[in-house]
Amino acid sequence: MEQSGTDITKASELLKEGKIVGIPTETVYGLAADALNAAAVVSIFEAKQRPSFDPLIVHIGAVSQLKQLVGDVSPLQQKLIDKFWPGPLTIIFDKNEIIPDIVTSGLKTVGIRMPQHPITLKLLRDFDLCLAAPSANPFGYISPTSADHVIKQLGDKVEYVLDGGPSEIGLESTIVRCDNHQITVLRLGGLSIDALSDFGVPVVVSDHSSSSPQAPGMLTNHYSPRKKTSYLHSASEIAENTAVLYFSKESQRAVDRTLSKSGDLREAARNLFKYLRELDELEITEIFVEKAPDNGLGKAINDRLKRATAS
Ligand code: TXA
Ligand code: MG
Repeated sequence: MEQSGTDITKASELLKEGKIVGIPTETVYGLAADALNAAAVVSIFEAKQRPSFDPLIVHIGAVSQLKQLVGDVSPLQQKLIDKFWPGPLTIIFDKNEIIPDIVTSGLKTVGIRMPQHPITLKLLRDFDLCLAAPSANPFGYISPTSADHVIKQLGDKVEYVLDGGPSEIGLESTIVRCDNHQITVLRLGGLSIDALSDFGVPVVVSDHSSSSPQAPGMLTNHYSPRKKTSYLHSASEIAENTAVLYFSKESQRAVDRTLSKSGDLREAARNLFKYLRELDELEITEIFVEKAPDNGLGKAINDRLKRATAS
C-alpha cells in the first residue's frame, strides 16, 4: 500500500475507522484524527510523543459545523470568520461537551480553523468531518511542509498521508482569542497581525512563555533542529563545519541557504522549515540563522527562529 497519495476516499475511511492520517494545509501538514473520537485523538498524542497538556486545533470545512462544536459565536469572532476563513487563522471558542476533553487538554475552550487547501477542504466537506490535527512532526521538532517530511519523521506511525504538494504558507496559523473589546494573539503565524487591525479593537500580542499553562505552541524551545542553532552575529563565526540560513544574502557555499534572494517575506516563510530541515540533515555541527525584517510575516518568521535558537 502506498503510504502517500491523493485518495481522499481512502483517507476518509481510515479517519472514520479511528486511524490517523497526514493532511496537507496551506500552513503546514497536520496529523489528523476524527476530533469527536477520543481514542483516535489519543493516537495523535502517542505518534507525536506530545505531552497531553498541549491542546489540539480542530479543523472544519463549513462554518455550519461550528454550531455543534462551540457555544455562542460573538459578533467579532463572526467578522474574523467571514474575512479570514478558509485561511491561516485559528480562533479560540468556548467548547461544547461533544468535543472530548483530550482534544483540548481539559480546557473549556477549543481552537478551530478552516484550512485553505483544496484537498483537505474536500475531505472535510464531502465526508462531513471535523479533524483534530496538530502539525505532523514529533513534538518540538520542525513542522512539516511536505508529505515526504511527514513520512520521513513519523514513518509507520501514520497510516496514510494525503499529498497536497508543498505547503503554500509554510508557517503555522495565527492563533487568536477575542472578546468584543480586544483581539489577543496567542501565536504569531501565517496571517500577519496587520491584517487583524481593521476591526476597530486593539490587537495585543500575548507574551506567553513556556511557563504558561495555556502554552499554545509557545514553549521557548520549539520548532527546533537537533543541531545546535544560533543567531549569526558576525561572519567570523562561520567555520567549515557550520551552515548558515541567510534571510536574503546569497552565499557562495553549497551548504548555506537563503530564505528569499529578493527579500520576499512570503517566499522566506515558505522556505523556512524546509531549509531548517535540510541544514539539520547536513554533515555539519552548527547552524547559524539570520533574522528576517521585523514586519508582516517577518514577525512570525522571527518568532520561529527565536524558538529554534533557544536552548
Ligand atoms: O497551522 C496550524 O495551525 C497547523 C495546521 C496543521 O493546521 N496546526 C498546528 O497545530 O500548528 P499545533 O498543535 O502544532 O499547534 C497548535 C497550538 C498548540 O500549541 C496549542 O497549545 C494551541 O494551538 N491551542 C490549541 N487549543 C488551544 C486553546 N483552547 N487555547 C489556547 N491555545 C490552544
Ligand atoms: Mg506544532
